[in-house]
Amino acid sequence: MKDTLFRLLKYITARRKGLLIGLMVCVVLAAITSVVSYWFLSSLVDDYITPLITMVDKTPGFQRLALALLGLTAVFLLGAIVTLIQGFAAARLSHDIMYSLRNELFSKMERLPLRYFDTHTRGEVMSVYTNDIDALRLMLSQGLPYLFSAIVTAVAMILALFSLNVPLSLLGLVLLVGVTALSMKVIMSARGHYSAQQERLGNLNSYVEEIMSGQKVVKVFHREETCKEEFQERNASLQKSAYQAVKYTGLISALNMQAGNLIFYLPFAVLCAVCVINGWGGMTIGKTIAFLSLAKTMNVPVVLASGQLYSCVTALAGAKRIFAMIDEEPEEDQGTVTLNGKRPEGRIECKHVDFSYVPGTPVLHDVTLTAEPGQKIAIVGTTGSGKTTITNLLNRFYEIEQGEILIDGISVQQYKKEELRKMIGLVMQDTHMFTGTILDNIRYGNPSLSDEDCKRAAENARASDFIERLPEGYETVLTHDADTLAEGQRQLLNIARAVASDAPVLILDEATSSVDPRTERLIQEGMDHLMEGRTSFVIAHRLSTIKNSDCILVLDHGRILESGNHEELMAKKGAYYKLYTST
Ligand SMILES: Nc1ncnc2c1ncn2[C@@H]1O[C@H](COP(=O)(O)OP(=O)(O)O)[C@@H](O)[C@H]1O
Ligand SMILES: [Mg+2]
Repeated sequence: MKDTLFRLLKYITARRKGLLIGLMVCVVLAAITSVVSYWFLSSLVDDYITPLITMVDKTPGFQRLALALLGLTAVFLLGAIVTLIQGFAAARLSHDIMYSLRNELFSKMERLPLRYFDTHTRGEVMSVYTNDIDALRLMLSQGLPYLFSAIVTAVAMILALFSLNVPLSLLGLVLLVGVTALSMKVIMSARGHYSAQQERLGNLNSYVEEIMSGQKVVKVFHREETCKEEFQERNASLQKSAYQAVKYTGLISALNMQAGNLIFYLPFAVLCAVCVINGWGGMTIGKTIAFLSLAKTMNVPVVLASGQLYSCVTALAGAKRIFAMIDEEPEEDQGTVTLNGKRPEGRIECKHVDFSYVPGTPVLHDVTLTAEPGQKIAIVGTTGSGKTTITNLLNRFYEIEQGEILIDGISVQQYKKEELRKMIGLVMQDTHMFTGTILDNIRYGNPSLSDEDCKRAAENARASDFIERLPEGYETVLTHDADTLAEGQRQLLNIARAVASDAPVLILDEATSSVDPRTERLIQEGMDHLMEGRTSFVIAHRLSTIKNSDCILVLDHGRILESGNHEELMAKKGAYYKLYTST
């Protein structure tokens, strides 16, 4: 926690040092002006008002009083102005810092390896962007300035009290420490309820999100009632802890509010009166008024500080998560090889590749394969046999542990990542479109492509038929999940996008699983034409579409069982023969 606070302060001073110092100066000035006005009461009464009573010619006395009040007005004005500036400065500071934190988070997210997202859910990452950033903004714009202001005010008040009367101030100090300790104790015992409240709120929110995105499934299995009950249960437990937390908050504020009156005001009113009457400790009416005004508000800084302390603790926990994400190791790229615009031949070799996502559970064993330039390689095998994993490794989404993968004789690790990924066009089973028109989506990987070329790519991918039937054709605007298209249509667009990127190596990973067999055959024909001169990897369930491949690899539990072309494998009557004849 302390480390996070220091890190945050360092982060702020590195970016907005001037603003931070200005803010602190304003806070100090505002605190001092508020205390000065109370403290000045004693002099106002004793030196300016009381003498007036006995004066014969009152004019000079009134003039002095007017002057003093003028001075006080100036102090009040200064207080008002610095408070105003303080508000602006705090808002500016917090928004500036949030701006640069958000930028840093996003650019980090873009550079994180896929492995990061295997172990962090989308909800977790989103909550850093929304909840944690917002908690931090509150802390920077309110929590920290208030806390700092409370400390400065408390110090100024104590100094002012001591300048009025030392023994009474000592007594006040002891009482203040007592009240503070008591409210701290209450806060500490409320802490559990606060964190329970936070946790249950998160719990409730994620439940709503889960059910909302799964509405269809909920309805299909008519689970509405059960969902409602489950929700009510979570809602009730949130309500319980929230109520407990509020109860404690109420207790603290009641304690503090009444402490001002009961513990400070009443006893000191009596004590001051006794002192004034007996002339003890140079106590005067003026000092009494000032002392009581100060004493009554003596615990206000403590109230303010304890109110902010909790939000600061929450915000710092969030800041810790923010910094943890910023500190996350980015995808490493030590590759130096670039092609300088030269088109690679597309010869791909995997040599004795071993790989596991989670250490200890190997997914690929000793995978060896060679794809000559322009060859079409098919990978078949049951679900979970590691087909997608091979394509992940070609793209260097994950690093291999053993063996090597070479493209044109150069290890994938030696290529600059950008170059490597430009070489490989990947069409995945899950389609993801971006908000924008169909044309924009087709040219996503190749933004300089002309409309004509985009349309040609769509024709090659057999997507043009359905696009042209849309009311707005190629100008149809898609939202990011392209809900308005059928799954198969999204896949066609997906293929068109890969075709448009014009990569020398093409990977189709179950890219046509959701289109009908006829369209799939059409796509395959188009692709076969397109694949001329490109090395391609095709993963498909319908074996008829990969019959004409140059080489078919049969994968089983991460091992290559057989390889060869269709005729060879059929003649062998092995695993491929069984697969082929059973479908
Ligand atoms: N990101 C991941 N983290 C951990 N395990 C994974 C991950 N992706 C896939 N796996 C596991 O690796 C194995 C191979 O998966 P995959 O290559 O996707 O199979 P498929 O042949 O169906 O494409 C499966 O057992 C799967 O559970
Ligand atoms: Mg797969």
